Amino acid sequence: MSKEDATESRQTPPQCPFSYLELTEFDADYRARPEDRLSVLRDDCPISRDAGMGRVLFAKHEDVRAILGDKSLSKDFAAHASPTNPLRAAMLKQDADTAELAREEWPEYVGQRDASMIFMDDEEHLRVRKLFQEQLNSRTDQFASVTGRVVTDVIESLSSDRFDVVADFARLIPIRVIAILLDIPEEDFPKIQDWVDAAITASFSPLASAEEKAAAAQSRADLIMYGKGLLDQRKAEPQDDFLGTIASAQRDGYPISDSEIVENLALMFSAGFVTTADLISSTVYLLLSHPTQLAMLRERSQLLGNAIDDALRLLPPIMSAPRVSVEAREFQGFELPAGDYLIGSIAAANRDDAVFDSPDMFDISKRRARHLSWGGGAHTCLGASLARTEAKEAVSALLAAFPSLDIDPEFEGPEWRLSPFFRGLDRLPVVVS
Ligand code: HEM
Repeated sequence: MSKEDATESRQTPPQCPFSYLELTEFDADYRARPEDRLSVLRDDCPISRDAGMGRVLFAKHEDVRAILGDKSLSKDFAAHASPTNPLRAAMLKQDADTAELAREEWPEYVGQRDASMIFMDDEEHLRVRKLFQEQLNSRTDQFASVTGRVVTDVIESLSSDRFDVVADFARLIPIRVIAILLDIPEEDFPKIQDWVDAAITASFSPLASAEEKAAAAQSRADLIMYGKGLLDQRKAEPQDDFLGTIASAQRDGYPISDSEIVENLALMFSAGFVTTADLISSTVYLLLSHPTQLAMLRERSQLLGNAIDDALRLLPPIMSAPRVSVEAREFQGFELPAGDYLIGSIAAANRDDAVFDSPDMFDISKRRARHLSWGGGAHTCLGASLARTEAKEAVSALLAAFPSLDIDPEFEGPEWRLSPFFRGLDRLPVVVS
């Protein structure tokens, strides 16, 4: 076959059988049993296109892993997604709203899409990621002790006979842990949590009202200006803490701008808050709703790592990860147009029976760490080791403190938060007998 014939024989991927909202928590059927639609995608149309949204969805484990690890694909959506792409337009609008507010006080701030490592490729991405990764990695041996202290405090504050695992426990841990690791003053933790909450909730909701979107932009701008204040202070009074070390590297010639430092500092808070809280409450939920697995874990505590991995696999806190095609290209015999968002469905890939036996079962006796919940390739989650440690410390301390913990029998849940991107419980009331 000539090159031209081969190109002609390629097809564009079939139309996705579900609309954008039908694959999000906003749809009641999806919310109740996402696995039903995800298996239709995986089995019947593992690569499908949603032309209206300008995106191609990948559902098989092998394909999602390949897409996320493909160095020829980009995360610079502003530069490479088609100018008419609705996902790109929504992202640029959010960035512009925040940047406009932040520039009232900080005219040089360039905005998220130009400063965050999540939107960078190749050397530029490595340059920024390396500095934050070095600082985080140099604190690895504090992860367990810092989390342990935070978890002990939170458990002491719990009522002894009933509480909500989400609001009273899981959500109180990650912001405090990251703030301590980043040497942020303790009195600032609640406002950081409020900003991140407001920014994340509306940013990822396709149904957010104009007021909620405005509040999200304001919260993000507040977080940026808070980070700018910290950076200015570290420059005026050099310190050898997390941010102080990054500021010193910049002063000594490391090529990183103030906008990049502050934006990625804000990212450390936002990327690890909701996700890690969801992992903690989802793991507790799966254990309490699978008594045999819980009994096995109480007997063999060394299975905790398996429990966390299988919770990550079944209920990935981030359900998909995007890339963008820079040029038209072939993939598995399909022609992928340039400028489309290529979305790897982590939720679908994690239940692929080509990789996992009985993929819809929660089973802590097996080590099922090949899930894709940390994403892949150069952008693999920077905080995976921290998040895993937090989940292990939190779940083991909770089970030890309450040897007879049950889901409140009157609770008719589970109740999932409405988000197209995150999967997490809204609440998980429990009783101590
Ligand atoms: C259970 C908790 C977490 C989950 C499930 C999670 C998941 C993810 C995923 C799926 C990505 C995108 C990867 C890709 O595009 O291939 C990501 C990126 C990232 N995560 Fe996490 N994350 C978690 C916790 C954390 C924590 C605690 C931190 C903070 C220290 C963090 C920091 C980041 C950063 C900075 C990135 C961007 C990396 C880059 O673009 O190079 N994450 N995470």
